[in-house]
Amino acid sequence: MSSMKPPSQEHQVRTASEQEEPAVRAVTSAWSQTRRRVLEHLAAVGVLLAPGCHEARTSASADTPTTSAAAPTTAAAPTTSASPAVSASPVPSASATVRGKVGESCQTDTDCESNLHCTLGFDGAKFSKTGTCTKEAPIYEGRPLRVDGEARVATLGGSPKAGISGWTAYFARAAAEEHASVAAFARTLCQLMALGAPLDLLARTQRALADEIEHTRGCLAWYQRSGGQQDALGVLPEAVADIPGANHGLDALAQALLADVIHGGCVGETLAAEAMLERAAQAPEAELAEWLERVADDEARHAALAFETVAWLVAQRPALKPVVLTELAGLPAAIRKRIEPLARECGLLEAQPTA
Ligand SMILES: [Fe+2]
Ligand SMILES: [Fe+2]
Repeated sequence: MSSMKPPSQEHQVRTASEQEEPAVRAVTSAWSQTRRRVLEHLAAVGVLLAPGCHEARTSASADTPTTSAAAPTTAAAPTTSASPAVSASPVPSASATVRGKVGESCQTDTDCESNLHCTLGFDGAKFSKTGTCTKEAPIYEGRPLRVDGEARVATLGGSPKAGISGWTAYFARAAAEEHASVAAFARTLCQLMALGAPLDLLARTQRALADEIEHTRGCLAWYQRSGGQQDALGVLPEAVADIPGANHGLDALAQALLADVIHGGCVGETLAAEAMLERAAQAPEAELAEWLERVADDEARHAALAFETVAWLVAQRPALKPVVLTELAGLPAAIRKRIEPLARECGLLEAQPTA
């Protein structure tokens, strides 16, 4: 290890949840923390519209207890998968009929044996209907730059990385994906301006863009610190690709932005925040765990920004509300269980009685 400073000293955003006693943290799952953080950020910008938000926020710390979240280990490398990065375990069901073994087909965790996860395909925006049971939790990455239906990233160091694994491989991939998120937010910023978004929303989007630059910088620093070379990210011509919907009027632009923000932001950033917390629990050193926790809070704020953006779009164009319902309904059930309650808190879905 070098004497390098912590990669992300610039991050100053600390939420109340990060001040918790260790004993509290130990019994709070990554998902519960993520949910609470997203709701805290939504509350901070006044986007929580549903009357039940307080109950949801206070109950968030009580569900799905786990004993592993606050216990960093030195053995575990971050989880990896063929899908774009960032993990989120589909919600397990207590009444699950467990049956699938590793490699067998599944649609949710409940189709797999109790110690396995159902890993769906994810192309940066859409999940596959079926996946396979895996030992590792699936990894789904947040806020991709999608062009012509594919997530695009620059190459690190001029050529694809080979012969690296564990944290080094994770940071190589994460650096490229965080870097591409900068372009995704830049595109969003232009779309929002075209649609007449208020300055506060533009400012929060601009801040998210700046966060992604810092995340990229941090990933590169940790990449080198974990054994990677002093590489830089290369060209990303897709950063100036045509903006979706731009040539078909403002309604088409708004709908394209809505779909991108729901999948890349509401879903992707929320799952990214959760995955970062899970990785923090696996980090082999406290400094890395602290950095990952700070990034997780940034991603939770980006998720909140996505819900805020969707709420603003729907307020401006009520005709888009059915599109929101359709997009959410199209998510895999396990992902929907995470995202719909947050959407409900923002008034994007009708309140429903809780079971
Ligand atoms: Fe990020
Ligand atoms: Fe993000």
